[in-house]
Amino acid sequence: MRSHRVRIAPSLLAADFGHLAEQVALVEAGGADLLHLDVMDGHFVPNLSFGLPVVEAVRRLTRLPLDTHLMLAEPQRYLAAFRDAGADSLSVHLEVSPDPAPLIDAVHDLGLQCCLVLNPATPTAAAYPYLNRVEMVLVMSVEPGFGGQSFQPAALGRIADLRARIDALGADTAIEVDGGINPETARACRQAGATVLVAGSAVFRAADVAAMLQSLRS
Ligand code: DX5
Ligand code: ZN
Repeated sequence: MRSHRVRIAPSLLAADFGHLAEQVALVEAGGADLLHLDVMDGHFVPNLSFGLPVVEAVRRLTRLPLDTHLMLAEPQRYLAAFRDAGADSLSVHLEVSPDPAPLIDAVHDLGLQCCLVLNPATPTAAAYPYLNRVEMVLVMSVEPGFGGQSFQPAALGRIADLRARIDALGADTAIEVDGGINPETARACRQAGATVLVAGSAVFRAADVAAMLQSLRS
């Protein structure tokens, strides 16, 4: 049996931004482990979300670690700014660079944790050389850019593949999954070996947020 502790990362993209402080307090009180912040530039993904001022504002609202998902064509330009805004970890997409090693080093040099993100079409093998150089790998279970999409079941085999690789390396790299997570898909992802579950719509549309967080966890 695997004994990895599962962590839940509500995605603020699905929150009511008119009541940001209350929404952050709700998930923090409900037992969230991290806050997932989806930053989109309209280039790497065909959508815009929010940027540095919102990250700074959220930093002042919570002590939860800020798991910052950078959907940016040129993340290297903004890494220090997101650190200064209060991010704890920066997630960079493998697709933006043929060799992500300099990006990973740049994140670590800033004193932050680094997560490498794979879009659904990116072979998991592309991440193998970096699995013991990052704290976390993120398997997208939807095309990045929008909340509220359906979970792509092919993500399960990809999680299991990365779990086998990470275990074979003896590494403790976390595996995060993002997109279409609800209690049912969360269970399948945990069974495949994911340890960090991102959920936007499921959490922020729940009538009972604490109960939803608990059911995603177990
Ligand atoms: C999509 C984002 C996700 C999104 C998840 O580009 O990376 O984090 O907010 O939303 P749900 O949980 O609604 O699929
Ligand atoms: Zn995300």
